[in-house]
Order: sequence, then structure tokens, then C-alpha cells
Amino acid sequence: MANPVFVGMDLGTFKTSVASSAGYRDVIPTAVGWPKDHIARTVLGRDVVFGKDLAEHRLALDLVRPFEKGVLKYGDAANCGLTAQQIEKHATATRLVIEYAVGMVNPARGDAGTPVYGVIGVPSQAGMKNKQFVMDAAAGVFDAVAIVSEPFTIAYGMNRLTDTLVIDIGAGTIDICPIYGVYPADDEQVTLPIGGDAVDEEFEKLLKARHPRVQASRNMVREIKEKYGFVSDVGEKAVVSLPVDGKPTPIDVTEPLKAACSALVKPVVEAVCNLIAKFDPEFQQRLRQNIILGGGGSQLKGLDRVIEVALAEYGGGRVTRVTDATHAGSVGALKLAMNMPAAGWTALSAKTKAAPGPAPKAVPMAAAA
Ligand SMILES: Nc1ncnc2c1ncn2[C@@H]1O[C@H](COP(=O)(O)OP(=O)(O)OP(=O)(O)O)[C@@H](O)[C@H]1O
Ligand SMILES: [Mg+2]
Repeated sequence: MANPVFVGMDLGTFKTSVASSAGYRDVIPTAVGWPKDHIARTVLGRDVVFGKDLAEHRLALDLVRPFEKGVLKYGDAANCGLTAQQIEKHATATRLVIEYAVGMVNPARGDAGTPVYGVIGVPSQAGMKNKQFVMDAAAGVFDAVAIVSEPFTIAYGMNRLTDTLVIDIGAGTIDICPIYGVYPADDEQVTLPIGGDAVDEEFEKLLKARHPRVQASRNMVREIKEKYGFVSDVGEKAVVSLPVDGKPTPIDVTEPLKAACSALVKPVVEAVCNLIAKFDPEFQQRLRQNIILGGGGSQLKGLDRVIEVALAEYGGGRVTRVTDATHAGSVGALKLAMNMPAAGWTALSAKTKAAPGPAPKAVPMAAAA
């Protein structure tokens, strides 16, 4: 049998990043688009759309983000308010995203003789039912998987396996996880139901309250946040061009943007302090001094410093950002996959041949680093 290809995957609400032992890595939106009608199908020339084409063709697509806030976050079917048919659609979307993402980094895809072993990072509190949902979705793609908490993959990738606290600021959730040399248990970790999506929502609301005639889609709002988002007192103003009654107009968004981004700080600091307080007092100081900030939201300017300042009254703390917010989780998961003992894998039986699609255009890791 051929040597296995190992894959590390960070299956997020907003984006899925993947890295493989074949030396490739990539990132795609955690979303699938189906053409809305047969005209769209003809124009697009395919039945399913992934990746950056989703944004470009979104008006012609029925877009599904399977883990969007409140919607089937990792198989929480009982509380998601979806019909059985919609749940089925979300499950299919999850499987297709996993299949496509792995295809991007596995040059041997379609070759049934090359086993694919994957470590998949999921939010830290994803319970057993939810892990099963991910496992079912992965069954067609991987021969064996290990599902681990996403903050753990970040810490593993940075060799910070003891006395560390990871704060992973994603789109749908903020996951906070203590690391002290063993796999973290589900009940030791905290998941806050806020993140980048909540910031976008708040920013849009505040912006429209202040400038009622400004037209801005959720996508535009998110792009502004990603470019200018900050939580500390930076001297610069964020002035962007936005349509007012159809005419591009310079708008100062500094205040609403800062207010929306800053809303994350208090809940994070409170959750960090509560979590640390439950720890053996001898370790509390060490955890506070070794906080890692990961996930896309960690790139908000000033966030590391503002958390440090807020921790001052609790005895101080040191916060470091991951160097590569997009790939820290997937590269850590890959490293874990390559070091995983045989007993760590769960075999999956239903592997199907990868669907034919575009050839991998993945970036070799050395070049992308
Ligand atoms: N430069 C940036 N500044 C601020 N926020 C950013 C930046 N880049 C990305 N983000 C935000 O980070 C979020 C996505 O983060 P990430 O990719 O870690 O989420 P995810 O893993 O898909 O979600 P989750 O972990 O909640 O399942 C989005 O809200 C995005 O707008
Ligand atoms: Mg994430």
C-alpha cells in the first residue's frame, strides 16, 4: 500500500484551512453554492461552486454556510430551527467542503490506493454528537480521522503544550482552552457564542444608525473590519468610500468600527479570568503569562495589548498572537497527524473516490510560509 497522505484541517464557521504532508496548503470559505436554476447552471457550467467563485457568482447561487451562527453549528440539529431537508443539505455541504478542501492539497486524490489520514480541528466544546456529525461528513474523504479541539491544534503547532491558554477568535465562536500537557477535556474549555460575525453585525447596525443613507452589504462591512478593525486608540481615522444613494462618498467609520470590535474584549477577559480561577492556584500565574491569541479575529489591531491591559487588575498577563492566523490551526493539525500514534486514529469505512474537479492549485508550504 502507498504511503498515506496526512492532512490537517481547521474546519471553521467561516473558512476551512488545510495543509497536507504532500507539501500543499490552502484555504476556502466553509460554504457551498448550488446554481439557483437551470440558466445559472448553464452559465456556471457546473453543479456545485466552491472557493472564491462563490463571492463572484453569489447572485446566481443558493449559498449554504453549514456552520453559520446558530445554524447547525456542528450538527446541533435539535436547536438549529431547520427542517430535516435543510439539515440534510447542510450535511451535504459539509461533506462537499471537506472533499473539495482535501482535493486541493492531496495530489494523489482519486487514487484509491493512497490512504488519507486527517486530523480535524473543531471548536473546543463540540460534544460527541457534533464530533459524530463531522466524522460522518468526513467518511467519504478520509480513511481515518482524529477529531481534536481547534485551540489544541494551534498550541500543538507552536510547541506550547504546557501552561498555555489559547483564545481562538473565529467567525461564529470564541474558544478558550487551557493546555497543560494532555488533550483538553471538553468541560475545561469555554466557547463563547460571539466572534467575527457578531462584530460585523454590530458594526453594520452602528454604521447604519449613524449614516442612515449609506449602503453597505455584510460582505463590505466585513472587508472594512478586516482592513481597518481595531480596539485600541490608534491615531489614524478609518475613512472608506461607500455608496450614498448610489454615489461613492467618503465616510468616517472610526467610531462605529471601534465600538463594534471592542465589544469582544469584555466577554473574553471575563471568560479568561473565570477559567483561570478554576485552575490550581500554582498554575494560574503561568497560564496568564502564556496566552496565545489565534483565529482570524486575532488580527484586530491592538487586541493583544488591550487584553493585557484588562488583565492587569487580575495580576497581569502576556498575550502573543499566532504568526499566521489563517493556517495556525491546520498546520498544527497536520503536525499532530504526522506524530499521531496508531491508536489515535478512528478508521472510517465509506471512503469514496474523490469527485473529479479542478486540478489542485495548492501552494507549496515553503513558498507560502
Ligand atoms: N485582518 C482581520 N482583522 C479582523 N478580523 C479578521 C481579519 N481577518 C479575518 N478576520 C475575521 O476573522 C473571522 C474568521 O476567523 P476564522 O477564519 O478563524 O474563523 P473560523 O475558524 O472559520 O470560525 P470558527 O472558529 O468560529 O468556527 C471572520 O469574522 C473574519 O472577518
Ligand atoms: Mg476557527
